[in-house]
Amino acid sequence: MTKQHKVLVTRQFPPAVMKRLQDSFEIIRNEDDHHMAADEILSLASDVSAIMCDPTNIFDAKLISKLPESIGLITTFSVGYDHLDAQAAREKGILLGNTPDVLTDATADIALLCMLGAARQATSAAKTLRDGKWGRWSSTEFLGVHMSGKSLGILGMGRIGQAVARRARGFDMNIHYHNRRPVTAEGLEEATYHETLEQMLKHCQFLSINCPLTPETHHLIDEARINLLPDNAVIVNTARGPVVDDSALIDALKSGKVAAAGLDVFENEPNLDPRYLELDNVFLLPHIGSATFETRDAMGFKCCDNLDAFFSGKPLPNPISI
Ligand code: DGY
Repeated sequence: MTKQHKVLVTRQFPPAVMKRLQDSFEIIRNEDDHHMAADEILSLASDVSAIMCDPTNIFDAKLISKLPESIGLITTFSVGYDHLDAQAAREKGILLGNTPDVLTDATADIALLCMLGAARQATSAAKTLRDGKWGRWSSTEFLGVHMSGKSLGILGMGRIGQAVARRARGFDMNIHYHNRRPVTAEGLEEATYHETLEQMLKHCQFLSINCPLTPETHHLIDEARINLLPDNAVIVNTARGPVVDDSALIDALKSGKVAAAGLDVFENEPNLDPRYLELDNVFLLPHIGSATFETRDAMGFKCCDNLDAFFSGKPLPNPISI
């Protein structure tokens, strides 16, 4: 069967996803999964109709403006789309798609792992064991911050923020949140809405960052806002690294203002600020929020659904609209 439509696939995706792409489209694939820079994308995109990318591919206004007219869709293997200039795409008449919903649970699970991993000193405890330095059990060793029953502030009460809140209720946590507007959803009846972030921070023994990265949220968690937290707070970020000002957080972790941080995302990934690696009171993961077999397949299939709809002239099931 001739495959009518040509798609540039900028990364290797899970095998079941690659198979579905291969079965449906003529694909230009990235066999060795190297980083495709803008020039390479442009040279490969000359006669394709759609692109499937991921958050490591930055489609800024400059790249989008140079894409050939044949391209009508960019679908990203992610829910976040701060790597795509949506305004530029709109001006160029390119549709954008993403992968909402299917990664909500996996990412919320990792937020809870980060909360516990940070609060309970998992890094230094596990390292001591692995280094063969575990001595006699001691009542004063590896003491962490108690999580159950504490207050949790959620910055960004979208799908993932809500899933974090539902999980945290299982730890008897008191939920506070800041969002553009109040949210009514099952399980959030007792959550306290704060119109301003500053108001909320005073109540956050734990702070979970779940907002998208936008010009407004860039370095939103800075020194002044960290100082509004109660002493010994725990900060967790599973959203996007640049929402946090690394220097401010590192200073607060060093001074003890912040007891611990659990971070799955970083500014300049994968080149995180090396000062984090020198700290014992951090629990660090390499951006694995959505990394389960089931979730990654589901994300890929969402991209395929977007491609199918686009090529059949139907509305995208998972559009990014700005
Ligand atoms: C997303 O989907 O935006 C994640 O960060 C990648 O899992």
